[in-house]
Amino acid sequence: MAEIAPSILAADFSRLGAQIQAVREGGASIIHVDVMDGHFVPNLTVGVPVVASLRKATDLLLDVHLMIEEPERYIPDFAEAGADMISVHPEATHHLDRALQMIRQRDIEAGAAINPATPVGVLSEVLPMLDFVLVMSVNPGFGGQGFLPGSLEKIRQLRRLREECRLAFRIEVDGGVGLENLSDLVRAGAEILVAGTSVFHSPDPAATVREMLKAAQLAVAQKV
Ligand code: DX5
Ligand code: ZN
Repeated sequence: MAEIAPSILAADFSRLGAQIQAVREGGASIIHVDVMDGHFVPNLTVGVPVVASLRKATDLLLDVHLMIEEPERYIPDFAEAGADMISVHPEATHHLDRALQMIRQRDIEAGAAINPATPVGVLSEVLPMLDFVLVMSVNPGFGGQGFLPGSLEKIRQLRRLREECRLAFRIEVDGGVGLENLSDLVRAGAEILVAGTSVFHSPDPAATVREMLKAAQLAVAQKV
């Protein structure tokens, strides 16, 4: 099964509740929340209070993508706020193992997010601790960037690795995802597709998610 995780970074923040309701109607099961600190990435976005408000507004899974230095400093707060999934970047912490343990101890799905220039190999020691791996298909920091095709091979590599090591982590892809590349991504092995601009800047976000889900399920059937 493939899931669509709309990224609220591209949503209209003055109508966040309604926008989430719309993508829910379209069949989205996960809401992707991009947290940026102006240090790890050159942009600032939202923090703990927004996750806490979203928690009250929706029963969809909240997938919190931490693009912040030393993410372990804030994991307890995001857990408390109601995150269901938290991903951290190995490039942003000296203590990836500790950060992942902190997430797991709180019964939250633990993920590692890797930048386009970061090889899959940096995760070799922590793979068994991961519920999901997030492959960045743009350099993190902004929505609306062009998809970097190198991520397709990384997804295939992760899929092979998962099979070889008999693990069960899921594969998520984030950045520049839309109807034009979604089928290739699913066939490569992506199971959670984050989509910001392609969903929220479309005239009808509910219809767009529905269309993306349909294309994704078709591609799942064609997976080799
Ligand atoms: C980028 C963020 C993405 C972003 C995706 O740093 O991690 O989640 O919101 O947005 P689009 O789909 O517009 O590339
Ligand atoms: Zn993200």
